[in-house]
Amino acid sequence: MKLLLIFTNLFIFIAQGYSKEELNLYSARQEVLMRPLIKLFEDKFKIRVNIVSAKANQLINRIVQEGEYTNADILLTTDVGRLHIAKEKNIFQKIDNAILTNLVPSNYRDKDNYWFGVSLRARLLVYNKNSINESDLNGYIDLANDKWKNKVLVRSSSNVYNQSLISAMIMNYGEDAVKNFLKVFISNFARKPSGGDRDQIRAVAAGEGDLALVNSYYFLKMKSQDNEKKLDHVIEYFPKDNFMKTHINISGAGIIKNSKNKENAIKFLEFLVSNEAQKIYAEVNFEYPIRKNIELNIFMKKYNNFIKDDINLSDLAKLNKKSMMLMDIAGWQ
Ligand SMILES: [Fe+2]
Repeated sequence: MKLLLIFTNLFIFIAQGYSKEELNLYSARQEVLMRPLIKLFEDKFKIRVNIVSAKANQLINRIVQEGEYTNADILLTTDVGRLHIAKEKNIFQKIDNAILTNLVPSNYRDKDNYWFGVSLRARLLVYNKNSINESDLNGYIDLANDKWKNKVLVRSSSNVYNQSLISAMIMNYGEDAVKNFLKVFISNFARKPSGGDRDQIRAVAAGEGDLALVNSYYFLKMKSQDNEKKLDHVIEYFPKDNFMKTHINISGAGIIKNSKNKENAIKFLEFLVSNEAQKIYAEVNFEYPIRKNIELNIFMKKYNNFIKDDINLSDLAKLNKKSMMLMDIAGWQ
């Protein structure tokens, strides 16, 4: 009986076409979003990928606690703020790999090569076109203009997306300008910050406010599914002025210091930035490729015609604590 079981397992093993090669991916991204890519990777490289899904901070703490006994090979998460925390907690290893450093632009990877961006997202404005003219919109710092009194929607300052935006603004406009901005910006809120980015978009659609700061992929996904045309009057604006263009953040990954499958982990990162994977990763997640010249579908192309702020995200991540402090002092809940 036992022998039969062994043979059955062996058969399943061979039938699936996998060798013993595997990779343990600790992912803060939804598993459904990663599935198409992982299937492609498994088929191509004959490496089985096991996914552990949880929130980024939970995964980071778990890897810290597991220490040298961890199974984790890769941590995949969103926002440079979180990748920076993982690096600070010393769970990543330095990867000097020519493919990765050639394909990932230098402003979207760690200066010491501990993490690499794999996709881009913009923090943009969505607005009610029945109450605002596009010509009235400008850069981020103009959101402190009196004309937006009681019109602006944004989630709480405890969210890393807002913290990273404020860090980017400090780099572009300077700390004093951002301090002044924050005071007035907060007095322009249409309501006390509540909910996530999607809730701000719904609030614009419902007329609770006229414009909202949100991440691009939430808006693009909602637009693509808007069969009842409830969002027809809600459109996007990519903030820009002489000092700062549209804020860009990343989803990215690093290889765990105590990885037992380092070679496979490197193959996976190389795969994620390949032409084939970049297109799928961007389109499935409604994000932008990390690399230029990746041909996107018509829907994504329509929303990819804007100037990206090109500051270095390694530098941005270091400003996180300062940004949190400034937002707190200003009273952004
Ligand atoms: Fe998100």
